[in-house]
This record gives sequence, structure tokens and C-alpha cells, in this order.
Amino acid sequence: MTPSGPVVETRVNDPVTIVIFGASGDLTHRKLIPALYIAYAQNLLPDRFTIVGFARRDYDDQIFRNMMADSIREFSRLPTEDETVERFVEHLHYHKGDISSEDAYTDLKAKFQDVETYPENRLFYLSIIPDLFEVAARLLKESGLVYDPADSAWARVVIEKPFGRDLVSAKALNGALLKYLDESQIYRIDHYLGKETVQNVLSFRFANAIFEPVFNRSYIDHIQITAAETVGMEKGRGGYYDEYGAVRDMVTNHLLQLLCLITMEAPGDLAAESIRNEKVKVLNAMKLDIRKDISDAVCRGQYHSGLDSNGNKTPGYRDEDRIDPDSDTECFVALRMQINNWRWAGVPILLRTGKRMARKTTEVAVQFKVPPLQLFEQVECEDDVCDITRIKPNTLIFRIQPDEGIFLKVGTKRPGMRFVVEDVDMDFSYSGKWNKSLPEAYERLLLDTLHGDSTLFTRSDEVEAEWKVVQPILENLEKLKPFPYPPGEWGVHEADWLFHGVEGRWRNEKGPRPAGSSNSFDSSGL
Ligand code: BG6
Repeated sequence: MTPSGPVVETRVNDPVTIVIFGASGDLTHRKLIPALYIAYAQNLLPDRFTIVGFARRDYDDQIFRNMMADSIREFSRLPTEDETVERFVEHLHYHKGDISSEDAYTDLKAKFQDVETYPENRLFYLSIIPDLFEVAARLLKESGLVYDPADSAWARVVIEKPFGRDLVSAKALNGALLKYLDESQIYRIDHYLGKETVQNVLSFRFANAIFEPVFNRSYIDHIQITAAETVGMEKGRGGYYDEYGAVRDMVTNHLLQLLCLITMEAPGDLAAESIRNEKVKVLNAMKLDIRKDISDAVCRGQYHSGLDSNGNKTPGYRDEDRIDPDSDTECFVALRMQINNWRWAGVPILLRTGKRMARKTTEVAVQFKVPPLQLFEQVECEDDVCDITRIKPNTLIFRIQPDEGIFLKVGTKRPGMRFVVEDVDMDFSYSGKWNKSLPEAYERLLLDTLHGDSTLFTRSDEVEAEWKVVQPILENLEKLKPFPYPPGEWGVHEADWLFHGVEGRWRNEKGPRPAGSSNSFDSSGL
């Protein structure tokens, strides 16, 4: 039985059995089950669906259902209703088994006899350690749980990151998966692509005629992308993180995907392959901006002990739980890149990401060139006290999260007798326009997998192109020892050097941010 409610166009019609591998893990609790619940509560799941949690822990259906009901109440983006939660968890089952053992798949198949919906469409969500991706794909295929793409029922496999550790391992993993699965059956998740604001980069660029003509090297001075987090290594994430670090964890996927959307050419249509082809083209043109040495283009960092963004004492990265005390893994990295194509040649692209920074914020800032002639004096004012400054460039800011929105900084005549220009924001904020919370990335992505829409998933050649961009960093880690940085601030000071020859600097946010505004930023371009 499904809840009543409007049937919207994104409702999934195909009956389906969803098997979550790694069902006792954090992602299942925090994201996957709450996202599926919200889809259910909004009447977007099909009438007939079953969810099977697959893991090694000694649970049964009832324990699993109770735990998931708690997770839904704790992590659901929307208020929950007990009755709806109870009806939803009746669709859940648990399968205890070792993901690397053949028997577990034979047993799973047997379980399907009891619980599976008909026709037997299947979604396998691999929320497991990367070492198990290949064996899971092989056993799924050998046990007959995954069909051929030509079969009438469908089978799809979702793979969580990290997809490899470098170019060689990513290629090997692609090769291994493609032995057992067809590319059309593989959904490589990059949850940034499921964010509403990330998708809006494409809509904003290609649904409006005014920006696209100036989105190129003639008008744009530089682009900077920041993904700053205030969290460190709490909640046991140190074990995974220390093995990977910021380049592999954030740059190779989320940041490069954001950069693709900002810089790719318009696709001919919105078909998954058309969009992915354009992304691969621009990815293949991306290079680190290495002049003489890799350190011209890359700066890595590790936070030392100090006070975090809330003023609480925090240990240094190397003293965190499950981190090697001699670790050279970076938890901050800044890069300077180039895109070697006709549109972007010569435009510096600056990226940075880090843990324990001053504020949780992800944004893309596109800074335009200054007008050729400065006719007006530019001022910067606090109340009525103004200082004369150098001319400020226009900046278009995509605020990915939080306070989602888009801001355009423009110079405007300051009211008064003199002809002076002050910077103001033209801003659009999601909360101002639509007074409701945005869907979580996993809500969108899970529904897309059920619909068979792979647009927001990364294709094999795309993943390899991403690794190709960062490969020079991975090969030169010895030369790029991490610099220490203070927690609760904006990362490594040495990363300022990446702006050499550029009219600008990192946009480091100061003080509390008024809701829906970008005003509290340090002025860039000065
Ligand atoms: C994950 C990374 O992919 O993205 C984490 O593994 C990071 O280290 C997270 O914290 C950030 O995601 P979001 O959506 O909070 O920006």
C-alpha cells in the first residue's frame, strides 16, 4: 500500500527489488534509507518494491526494520509520520552474509523467491569498501542475479566512490567491472551531481542567453571553486580518509565535476550521453598549470591542533583517531589549473578544498575582467564611512551549499552628490524564492537509478579522465609535502601563491554571513 498524495511525473513505475550491500554502514543509515523513505512518503516509489539490506552483522528482518525506522526519524530531511514510517519499513528485509562469498549470493537468490517483486527488476547498491567492488560484480553475474541488458527485466549496479586510487587502478577497476556488467548497467555515483544547486549550474548557463556569450577567455579573469568543511576526522572517518586524502576524496570527483559543469560546451540535447560527451571533452582539456615545477600548481596541507570554527579545542590531523601519526596525507589541497581549449585557454582556474576550515561552504566564483577604462571612483563603505579602492570586478557566484543561491556582484552608483561606485549583490536565494528544503542528493540519484537515467552518473571514460588530471599530483607527493595550517581558518597560507599574476585572491569569508547574502566575503580582485 502506498501513501496517498499527488502522483508526480518522476514517480517510478517499474516494480523493483533494491539490495543494499553494506546495509549496516553509515551511508545506509544516514542517507540511503532516509532518501528512499522520502521518495516513498512523496509517492514516488512504485506500488511494488522491496528493499533488502545485505551485510555481515547478525540482524534479522525485525531488527533491521527497527534500526532503519530510527534512522529515518533521525535523518529524514522532512518531518516523519509514524504510520508512514511503519508502512515503509514493512518493505525492508535483511540478508546476512559475506559479500565476498559465493554462498551468500546463492542464499540471496533463494531469499528472492520469497520477497522479490515481479517482474524481477533489480537494483544493487554497492555501499562497500572498494576492494569488494570487483568480487561483488563477479558474484552477482555468476549467480545469475544480474541479467544481460537485453533481458526484459533490468538489473543495475550502483557503485559508490572511491572509484580507484589513481589512473591505473581506475582503469583496472573499469576493466574488471566491464567483464561482468555492461556500461549501461553501471551507475557510478558522485553525490555532488545529485545536488540541486549543482544541476542548476547547467540550467543557469544554458537556459539563459545573457551569460553564455561572456563565459570565455575574453571576459573572464579567473574561476575559483571552494569546498570547505568544518568537520575533521571525527566519527571514525580517519581510517578511510588517511588512505585517500583530499585529492582523491574531493578533487578527483566532486570538484572536477563542478568545474566540468561550469566550463563544458552546451550539449546538443539533454540525453545522458550528450552531456557526458561534453564533460569528457572538457575534462580531457584540463591540466594542472605547471610552469617549472609541480609546486607552482599544487599546495597540500594538514591542520595542526588549535581551535576549530566553533572555538573548541581540536587535535592536529596526525593526532586524530585512526590517523597515522607520521601521515603525509593531505586534508587540504589547492590547485591551479588550465583548460586547454579555444574557450578557456589562459584563464586561471583555482580549486581548493579542506577539512576543519572556517566555514562549511561550497561555491564557484567566476570573476570577470575589469572594464577597460576606470571612469568612476570605486568605494568600499561601512555605513557612511567609505574608503577609495581599486575597481572591483564583477563576480558571479554559484553558492552550492549552504544558503544555496546565485549572486552577481556589480558596481552601482552610491546615492549622493558624487559619482562613486560601490559593489552590490544581485542575489537569488533558493530559500527566498521557494520556501521549502531542497531534495537531498541521494533522493534524486536513487530515483534516477530506478528510472534508468544515467545523466548524473559518471561514465567509465569520464572517471579515467578525472584521474588523468590529478595523476601528476599522485606521482609527485614526495615533492608536495603538506604545509601545516590552523584549524578554523581558511587553509594553507602558502596556497595564496597560486594566484601569482592573477587579479584576485581566495575568497575567504569573514564574520557571520547574513542569511541569503554573500556580503561578508573578503573582496576579491584587490
Ligand atoms: C564525500 C567525502 O564524498 O563528500 C567526504 O568522502 C566529504 O570526505 C563529503 O565530507 C562532503 O559532502 P557534502 O555533500 O557535505 O559537501
